[in-house]
Amino acid sequence: MNNVLVRCRGVDKVYKKGSQEIKPLQKLELDIQEGEFLAMMGPSGSGKTTLLNLLAAIDNPSSGQIFFREQEISRLNRRQLSKFRSEHIGYIFQLYHLIPVLTAYENVELPLLIGRYSAKERHKRVQASLEMVGIDDRASHFPRQLSGGQEQRVAIARALVTDPTLIVADEPTGDLDAASAQYILEFLRKLVQEHKKTIVMVTHDLKAANHADRVLHLNKGVFVHHATS
Ligand SMILES: Nc1ncnc2c1ncn2[C@@H]1O[C@H](COP(=O)(O)OP(=O)(O)OP(=O)(O)O)[C@@H](O)[C@H]1O
Ligand SMILES: [Mg+2]
Repeated sequence: MNNVLVRCRGVDKVYKKGSQEIKPLQKLELDIQEGEFLAMMGPSGSGKTTLLNLLAAIDNPSSGQIFFREQEISRLNRRQLSKFRSEHIGYIFQLYHLIPVLTAYENVELPLLIGRYSAKERHKRVQASLEMVGIDDRASHFPRQLSGGQEQRVAIARALVTDPTLIVADEPTGDLDAASAQYILEFLRKLVQEHKKTIVMVTHDLKAANHADRVLHLNKGVFVHHATS
């Protein structure tokens, strides 16, 4: 039987812009199992990225609680959030977010520089991560010298290098051709099956979502039962 990794209870997010209030998430209830591959779909503006950011401890909810195993992460301060992220979270962004002046190797090494890793340990981990996504032959290339699919592999290597518990991916195949997308999706599935990772992936593509164990549909900040996008 699986254990629950993340538990959201009555989670609200409110953004205030002048007199305007935007409520991208409303009273969300969500349990994510350890070792689950969860896909999340929904129209633009439905709150998908907002929710990923809460799950990844990048942001706090306005009200409600989020638990990671037994720890409540919804009330951590910025420093605690940052420590928690560096220990548990790998974030794969839609547009890769690689640093243009750093090589593939240096981009992957970046998350390790805020942790307590020796130079030798960093090298071992970066090399292993690059090999895992099959991009170690491009280690000294800069992002502009890589194809989109290769950039995404580097971004995934960077998300994996700290050996995170939870990987969140925001449309990881959104900008890729069919073959590169297929590679990434199969790779994510392998991470769940062979490396016991937990993944939450946002996607607009039903075929991509079908690689997951479960698909949730978000609309206007609440989960709905039918496809809305
Ligand atoms: N920092 C912010 N300040 C104010 N409003 C925000 C902020 N971030 C997001 N929003 C608003 O919250 C709502 C949800 O945004 P979110 O980025 O979560 O949508 P999404 O489902 O990821 O959409 P997309 O598919 O286009 O990426 C939108 O109406 C957006 O304008
Ligand atoms: Mg988004």
